[in-house]
Amino acid sequence: MLQPDLTYQLLRNLTSPVVALTAVRGGKKNGMISDAAVRASIVPTVPRLSVYVHKFNFSHDMIYETGRFALHLLHTKQFDVVRRLGFFSGRDQDKLAGIAHHAGTLGVPILDECFAHFECTVVNVMDTGSSTLFLGDVVAVGRGAAAGGGLEPKGELLTATHFRSNMPAEWRVEYEAKLKEAQQVAAELSRTIQPVDWNRR
Ligand SMILES: Cc1cc2nc3c(=O)[nH]c(=O)nc-3n(C[C@H](O)[C@H](O)[C@H](O)COP(=O)(O)O)c2cc1C
Repeated sequence: MLQPDLTYQLLRNLTSPVVALTAVRGGKKNGMISDAAVRASIVPTVPRLSVYVHKFNFSHDMIYETGRFALHLLHTKQFDVVRRLGFFSGRDQDKLAGIAHHAGTLGVPILDECFAHFECTVVNVMDTGSSTLFLGDVVAVGRGAAAGGGLEPKGELLTATHFRSNMPAEWRVEYEAKLKEAQQVAAELSRTIQPVDWNRR
């Protein structure tokens, strides 16, 4: 018999570093947080990554409709960026207004400060019911201003475990409430999966 709480805790071992995803659509820029991103290619000349985005996030349709996004690995001094982009929706506000950024080669916002960034074009998607798994071709990369210019990035990569263990106590209630709400919505949508032909959408 599957024990949902235990299973969820064990699956948390599979979360990725905390990443900030950014996108732009019709001049409107936005960003969100995910901890479900992985390298999706071993071929240096075909660099790819994948990331899992809930359909009810504003960023989802921006990425789906434009086929472009940037993914940023963050460092451990960027908890404020995680709260700003991951606790509120860009539907209601300009979340990038207070975060230094510039346009990348694809036109998507690139955060000036980060551990590293990857600009991507979507080459395929998988519907999971409640979310879309985006497969991206990496077309440009860079290191953030705070990471220095040498071969080894400076600063420490922000992992999901580090964020969950060290976030300020007053954020935790908000974080848990938002997670619970997302889990409830996702539970309703998760069983209805529609195959998508990305090239014929
Ligand atoms: C640590 C953390 C991890 C998160 N992981 C994911 C994730 O993997 N996928 C996702 O769709 N949302 C994830 N979220 C939630 C979104 O970042 C959040 O709902 C955000 O407000 C969406 O913004 P938007 O509506 O402007 O796109 C995460 C949030 C936090 C704080």
